[in-house]
Amino acid sequence: MANTVIVGMQWGDEGKGKIVDLLCPAFDAVVRYQGGHNAGHTVKFKDRHFSLHLVPSGILHEGMLCALGNGMVLAPDAFLAELARLFEAGVRFDGRLFVSNRAHLLLPPHAALDQAREAARGREKIGTTARGIGPAYEGKVARYGLRLCDLSAPDLEDRLRAQLARIQGELNAVGGEPLPSPAFLADQCRGWAERLRPCIADTAVLLNEWIDAGKCLLFEGAQGTLLDVDFGTFPFVTSSNSTAGGASTGTGVPPTRIHGAMGVLKAYTTRVGGGPFPTELTGAEGEYLRERGNEFGTTTGRPRRCGWLDLVVGRYAKMLNGIDAIALTKLDVLDTLDEIPVCVGYRVRGEVLRHLPAERHLLEAAEPVLETLPGWKANTVGIVEHGDLPQAARDYIDLIEQEVGAPVVLTSTGPRREETIVRDHPALQRLTSQRLPQVLAQR
Ligand code: IMP
Repeated sequence: MANTVIVGMQWGDEGKGKIVDLLCPAFDAVVRYQGGHNAGHTVKFKDRHFSLHLVPSGILHEGMLCALGNGMVLAPDAFLAELARLFEAGVRFDGRLFVSNRAHLLLPPHAALDQAREAARGREKIGTTARGIGPAYEGKVARYGLRLCDLSAPDLEDRLRAQLARIQGELNAVGGEPLPSPAFLADQCRGWAERLRPCIADTAVLLNEWIDAGKCLLFEGAQGTLLDVDFGTFPFVTSSNSTAGGASTGTGVPPTRIHGAMGVLKAYTTRVGGGPFPTELTGAEGEYLRERGNEFGTTTGRPRRCGWLDLVVGRYAKMLNGIDAIALTKLDVLDTLDEIPVCVGYRVRGEVLRHLPAERHLLEAAEPVLETLPGWKANTVGIVEHGDLPQAARDYIDLIEQEVGAPVVLTSTGPRREETIVRDHPALQRLTSQRLPQVLAQR
C-alpha cells in the first residue's frame, strides 16, 4: 500500500488539482500539508469548475477522506466561505473533512501586514498573493502565533492583544491602517471556533491511524518546488516547505510511511510574482503561451509570466522530491508551434551549469542553453493513448524523461479528467498501490 506525495516541479500552477482529482480512485484520503489560501487548485468535475484554495481536491469525490495538516496556515473566514460554496454545489463533507488542531491561524491582521509590506517594497516586491501567508508563518517560527486549538483558550484575548501589538508595530512602520481591537477579534475567533469545532482534530493521530488501518494517503502539495522557502528562488518564494519533505513535517506522518512522489510538470514554464525566471519570454511568444494556456492566476487573477520548459528546474525538482514519475500537463498548449526550445542548462559567466545555483545574482544572470525541437503542428487535445501522439510530441516527452531522469506516466491533453494519457508503467502502478484499473475506470 502506497502513500504518495504529489508535488509541483516548477513555480506552482502546474495543474496539480487535476492530477490529484484523477488519481483519487487509487487512494482513501487526500491530505494538504503546507500553505494556505494562497493556493488555487482548479478541478473540472461533472461539467463544473471548482477553484479550491484550502480544501483538498479529493473533497469532490464522494466518501473520500480529506485532511488539512499542521503545516498549513488556516484563515477561518476563507475556509468557511469555501465550505459554503462546496455545500451549495451539493458536496457533502460531514465526518470526512478534518483540520489539524496544530495548524496556525491566519487572521485578517496578517493579510493587512502582507499588503502594506508589499506596497512599501517597491522594486523588491515579492508579488505575494496578499493573503497574509508570510506574516502567519512568521508568527509560528517567532512563537507568538495562535493555533486552531487556541481558538477556545481561556486567555485568547490576551494572546491576541500581544499578537496585534507586534503586527501593529510593523504596520505603523510601513504605513498601514489601525487594526481591530483584541476584543473584536476574540469575538470573531469564538464564532469561528463554534463553526469549526466538528472538523478540528489531532490529524497526526488520525492520519497514522488511517495508515494502520491499511488506508492509502495522497499528499497534495501546493505551490511548487521553486517556491519552497528553503530550496526555491529565495527570497521570491512562499513561506513554507512545498517540497515533498514538507509532507512529513506538515502532517505528522513519518518519512518512513511515505513511499513515493509524483511530480507535476507543465509542458512550458510559468511563474506569478517577482523573482528570477531564466526562460521567461517577455514578447509575443510569452503572450501567445499566456493566451493559449489561459495563464491567469486562480487565486488573484494576475497574468502569469510565461517561458519555455526549463529542465534545469525539472532536474532539480526530481532530485529534491525524489520524484518517481512525472505527470506532464498542458502539452496541447504547444500544438501550434513550429519549433519548441527547451532549456537544458544555464550559461553563467561563460560556464554552463546543469544545476540551479543558490545565489540570486547568478540565477538572475543565467542565460538558458536551449535545445530546439520541431513542433508537431497537430491537435493533441483529448488524446488518451501515448501511441496516438504525433512523433514530435513523443520526442518532446522522451527529451524530458532523459534530461530529468524519471518516466512521464501521465500526460494531460486538456482540462477534463478524461483528457489524459495514462501509461501502464511500473512506477505508476507502485505509486497507486496497483489500483490503476480504478483510476482508468473513472478517467
Ligand atoms: P505568498 O505565498 O502569498 O506569500 O506569495 C509568495 C510567492 O509565491 C509569490 O510569488 C506568489 O505569486 C507565489 N505563490 C503563492 N501561492 C502560489 C500558487 O498557488 N501558485 C503560484 N504561485 C504562488
